[in-house]
Amino acid sequence: MFLSELNQQNVTLANGESLSTIDVGTGEVVLLVHGFPLSNAMWLDLIPGLSKYFRVLAPDLRGFGRSPMNNQVFSMGDLATDLSCLLDALAIHSSINLVGLSMGGYISFEFWERFPQRLKRLVLCDTKAIADTPTIAASRLATAERAIEIGTKASTESMVPRLMGKQALSNEPDKVQRLTEMMYETKPETIASAQRAMASRQSFAEKLSEIQIPTYLLVGKEDPISTEAEMSEMASAINGSQFHVISDCGHMPPMEKPEAFEKALLDFLRS
Ligand code: MLT
Repeated sequence: MFLSELNQQNVTLANGESLSTIDVGTGEVVLLVHGFPLSNAMWLDLIPGLSKYFRVLAPDLRGFGRSPMNNQVFSMGDLATDLSCLLDALAIHSSINLVGLSMGGYISFEFWERFPQRLKRLVLCDTKAIADTPTIAASRLATAERAIEIGTKASTESMVPRLMGKQALSNEPDKVQRLTEMMYETKPETIASAQRAMASRQSFAEKLSEIQIPTYLLVGKEDPISTEAEMSEMASAINGSQFHVISDCGHMPPMEKPEAFEKALLDFLRS
C-alpha cells in the first residue's frame, strides 16, 4: 500500500498546529503514534487489516512527514496535546485505543496522564518509561545541534543498524530502504526539536502502577533500544497488562514483521 492511496487530510488544530492524518475505516478509533525520526508511513502495512475492524487514525506528528511545525519548541506533552486536539477537530468524543511506538510511546504516556478520560486501551511498542540519563540527554542535545549543522542524512545514518533486526538488515533491503528514506525525509529542524523534547521528557517509571486501563506491551526480541528485559519489567509494573515478544525482529515490528504485529494487536484490541 502507498501513502497516496490513502485518505490523508490536513487537520487544523485549535492550538495552531495542523496534522496530516491518515483516516481510514469506521468504528472504534485506533490512533497510531509513530516513532522518531519517522512518519505515519511506518504503519502502512497494518492499515488495510486494522481498518477492517476499526477507524484508524495515523497522524504525522508536528514537523514530521507532511505536517508543518508552527511552534518549533515543544515537549512530549505538547505532542500529546496535539493528539487530543486532533480528536476534538475530528469530533471524536468516545474513548480510543492508543498505540505508540518508541517516541510514540513517550507521547502515549503523556496522553494517558493528561487525557485519561479519552483512553480505552493502551498499546506500548518498543518504548520505555524512564527518562534519559544526563549522559543520554546531553548526547541528544549534541545531535540536535549536529542535525542543524550537517543535515538529516549525515546526522541520522548511524541509527539505521539499530532500528531494524538482523533478519531485515541482511535479507530485506526493501524494508531497510523504506525506513531509510522515511528518516531522510525528516527536516533537520524537526530532528532538533524532537531530540530536545525527548531529552527533557519526564519519567513514568513510578507511575506505571497507576495505569488502570487494559494495556498491551509489544517488543521485537532483538530491539537494542527498548529491550525485551526493560519492557518485561514495565509490563510487571502495570496491573493486569499483557506482554508479547515478536521474534527475529528489532525496534520496528510494524515494518519488520507486519503480519505478526497485526495479529498480536488485533487479538488484543478485539478481545
Ligand atoms: C524512536 O524510535 O522513536 C527513537 O528510538 C526514540 C528515542 O530516540 O528514544
